[in-house]
Amino acid sequence: MAQKTGKFVSGFSKLSKREKLSWLARHFFTSNPLDAVREFGSFWHSNIESQKLFDGISENVITNFYLPYCVAPNFLINDKAYCVPMVIEESSVVAAASSGAKFWHSKGGFRATVLSTTKVGNVHFCWQGDTFNLFAFFEELKQIMLDGVKHITSNMERRGGGVKKVELLHLPEIEPDYYQIKVDFETCDAMGANFINSVLEGFAETLIRELKENRNFSDEQKEVQVIMSILSNYTPECLVKSQVSYPVKQLGKFKGGMEAEEFAHKFVRAVKIARNDVYRATTHNKGIFNGIDSVIIATGNDFRAIEACGHAYACRNGQYQSLSNAYIEDGILHFELEVPLAIGTVGGLTKIHPLAKRSLELLGNPGAKELMGVIASVGLAQNFAAVKSLVTTGIQFGHMKMHLSNILLQLEADQSEMDRAFAYFQDKTISFTAVRVFLSKLRDGEGQFAY
Ligand code: MEV
Repeated sequence: MAQKTGKFVSGFSKLSKREKLSWLARHFFTSNPLDAVREFGSFWHSNIESQKLFDGISENVITNFYLPYCVAPNFLINDKAYCVPMVIEESSVVAAASSGAKFWHSKGGFRATVLSTTKVGNVHFCWQGDTFNLFAFFEELKQIMLDGVKHITSNMERRGGGVKKVELLHLPEIEPDYYQIKVDFETCDAMGANFINSVLEGFAETLIRELKENRNFSDEQKEVQVIMSILSNYTPECLVKSQVSYPVKQLGKFKGGMEAEEFAHKFVRAVKIARNDVYRATTHNKGIFNGIDSVIIATGNDFRAIEACGHAYACRNGQYQSLSNAYIEDGILHFELEVPLAIGTVGGLTKIHPLAKRSLELLGNPGAKELMGVIASVGLAQNFAAVKSLVTTGIQFGHMKMHLSNILLQLEADQSEMDRAFAYFQDKTISFTAVRVFLSKLRDGEGQFAY
């Protein structure tokens, strides 16, 4: 039971949602406990069954945290039209993705290619003895390990997946007696984390047992210390590429009257800077993940895994670099993004969260490979829109328009007030106070604004 005094609590997870909330209010919202309970409670789902579903997704759930569910239309990817779901709080992201999608729609759209779909896991262990003997023993062990997990792998094998490769690695540079069983997996449309971890733990059990029972090994060699068995979120071979290209001369004019040639050269330079300067690369890739993460969340995938892997991949050449690349060849602007995306369209949250299910339906219920192509294309569109803004108008131009529209919404401006505010603030600094003063003067009928 939760303690009645103090902020330490045990057995908290056993309390009901109401009890948890009331404990929280008593200890952390002491000035207004009832308001806190009411406010947290106001975000519970009105349908009890739906709320039960969300309560079951995580631990110690006291309420739901809402994020905007948005859509970016006009994506043309491999000649197929998509309206892409994006869950994100940053106001300009969806507008930017949509503008990137629209720009490339009339220019052939995005070409997405899945380069490989291999996922990886490792059994990390320490063993003392002759390395040569262990490698020799591993040749027979491999098949025994595979046979030992047949009950886990047979279903995946029927779908065309399973264990693809099993290797023994000796890595004395980490620890003299340190080894890994490195396993490559194909998990088809599943993200496959549970599948991979179960297989690895099965391999580890077989390793321990078979070493113990091996009559050719001394007592010391029969002992193995399995440190851990776990999938790796670094999946450089679960890789997708999305690309766009178009003749520079036909790109049209850009904001501020910038000619296509100047735009394309500035754009390529901006990307080159992101490939060579870590400060710029981090922001550049953050922009890419603005797009990627929002689709990952909307489709019930794991954005932490995707981010961790993407940033590790960005360092694969020994320096953190931009994930996208741009160049001009024979008068054609090429812009491309290569990114590892270990995602799933079956299992996990994809089939539990009602809106994740709807997201997949909105995308035409794609398999994992098709979804990889969509997500990479959204990342590329996002990156294109951000860098386009940066090298033309500057980022604040678009951000401030969004900012203004958010302030106007908060101040309950009607359409005519919005139109007048947009015209008025075109060349002025936008702040909450400035907009409030503008609106109140407008509403008071003061005519000193030159609209
Ligand atoms: C903001 O969330 C993302 C950008 O900073 C990305 C970029 O600079 O490329 C606009």
